[in-house]
Amino acid sequence: MLNLDHLIVEFDKGLRTLFSQAHSARPHPDANMSDAPMDEAERKHAAGLMRINHSGEICAQALYQGQALTARDPAVQAKLQQAAQEETEHLAWTSKRVHELGGHLSVLNPLWYTGSLTLGAFAGLLGDKWNLGFLSETEHQVGGHLQSHLEKLPPQDAKSRAVVQQMYVDETKHSEMAKEMGGADLPAPVKFAMKATSKILTHTAYRI
Ligand SMILES: [Fe+2]
Ligand SMILES: [Fe+2]
Repeated sequence: MLNLDHLIVEFDKGLRTLFSQAHSARPHPDANMSDAPMDEAERKHAAGLMRINHSGEICAQALYQGQALTARDPAVQAKLQQAAQEETEHLAWTSKRVHELGGHLSVLNPLWYTGSLTLGAFAGLLGDKWNLGFLSETEHQVGGHLQSHLEKLPPQDAKSRAVVQQMYVDETKHSEMAKEMGGADLPAPVKFAMKATSKILTHTAYRI
């Protein structure tokens, strides 16, 4: 059951997600790689794509947090926390890359965060089967986005590609983990609504 202590801890996590530098235990996938020459338009485009990925990771933090708040099975909670740790690393990698490309993080991150936290908590309230099903589908859709970014990024931007590629590997693993733990296959209209919502994020975060 939720209590005030829980809420304070989660509020603190939210503030840290939004306003402090995330830490990566694993080496950054693009460590030891140097920046390839890019013209201004290419850098701006790459920064926009990596800003989308960073905002996606802000959402992932909030989703996992919301779900861990309401998940019932302790084994499920533990797995969610483990995956959330990897999401924190994704946050660190994408944030660093956006700044390296001369970009800024999305000004709407607090909005993405709040919306996703609400969604995650709601999914958690529906029970672990749907909670995990929602998580699996989210990770699956994020994987699709990441694949499309590999096609859209400037071909010579090996640093961004290395980050996106490792995130793709991790998100695929998270999707399968959630399915294996008993995640239900979501109804088609829900999947469609999720895709529509993520389109709003991708279009907006690319710009602001
Ligand atoms: Fe992620
Ligand atoms: Fe993930």
